[in-house]
Amino acid sequence: MATTQTDRVALVTGAASGIGRAAAVAFARQGARVVAADVNQKGIDETLRLLRDAGGNGIGVRCDVAQQVQVDAMVASTLKAFGRLDCAFNNAGVEGTPAATADCTTDNWNRTIGINLSGVWYCLHAEIPVMLKQGRGAIVNCASVAGLVGIKGLPAYCASKHGVVGLTRAAALEYGDKGIRVNAVCPGAIQTPMLDRFMAGDPGTRDMLLANEPIGRIGRPDEIADAVLWLCSDAASFVTGQAIAVDGGWVAQ
Ligand code: NAI
Repeated sequence: MATTQTDRVALVTGAASGIGRAAAVAFARQGARVVAADVNQKGIDETLRLLRDAGGNGIGVRCDVAQQVQVDAMVASTLKAFGRLDCAFNNAGVEGTPAATADCTTDNWNRTIGINLSGVWYCLHAEIPVMLKQGRGAIVNCASVAGLVGIKGLPAYCASKHGVVGLTRAAALEYGDKGIRVNAVCPGAIQTPMLDRFMAGDPGTRDMLLANEPIGRIGRPDEIADAVLWLCSDAASFVTGQAIAVDGGWVAQ
């Protein structure tokens, strides 16, 4: 069965960096027309340069996923540019400020939940009606191993990512018989600017992360992109409602 994305339209949020950038370029390499959305315009421009260098076609959209009106406009821009939406990778996220539950500030909590969880819901809310009209579509939400197990010092992040897994399952049940598949990818520790920021705070963090990775190394963004592309492809036509760990074995322990 075909795993190609030729002529499909793929929307990626958080496409200016890390995992989102790798996914945007990978979609473009497979022939998809890509909408690269992010708050960071400079990063979007660099992603567009990379995907064009790879022979791809795409547009950039500046969007803060925590603002529903901007998410609605992002999906409208997608339709204006390409007339349809086949695949969506709702990936934009922040790590928040590490702090134990009783030390987590309300601002930290609200910002993390607002981007990581409400942002994914705003995306689903705007994307699903388009896919219902088309009678098909595939959505992948970016959760985390922190959506499957707890991690000390990241209460808001863990709560947001567990929320993404629950949201994914509910939406998958609601729209499975209408041609829309909804899955989540749960990365382990992946070498991106987010991980660099997370490790910068405490020199012991890298060792803690490596100790949690039975595979013995940190993952690469393209290893998550490969899973996302597979989930969006016809090769995954019977896969929905799953939270797939791509994590070097983290949650197998
Ligand atoms: P990153 O920091 O390299 O990239 C995240 C992107 O999201 C950035 O381009 C940023 O500008 C964008 N973004 C942040 N807030 C936004 C907003 N409100 N609206 C639109 N865009 C926004 O991080 P990375 O590592 O590529 O993370 C991508 C996703 O993967 C996130 O959801 C993250 O939680 C998840 N993840 C990352 C892991 C890792 O080890 N790097 C592990 C597990 C999950």
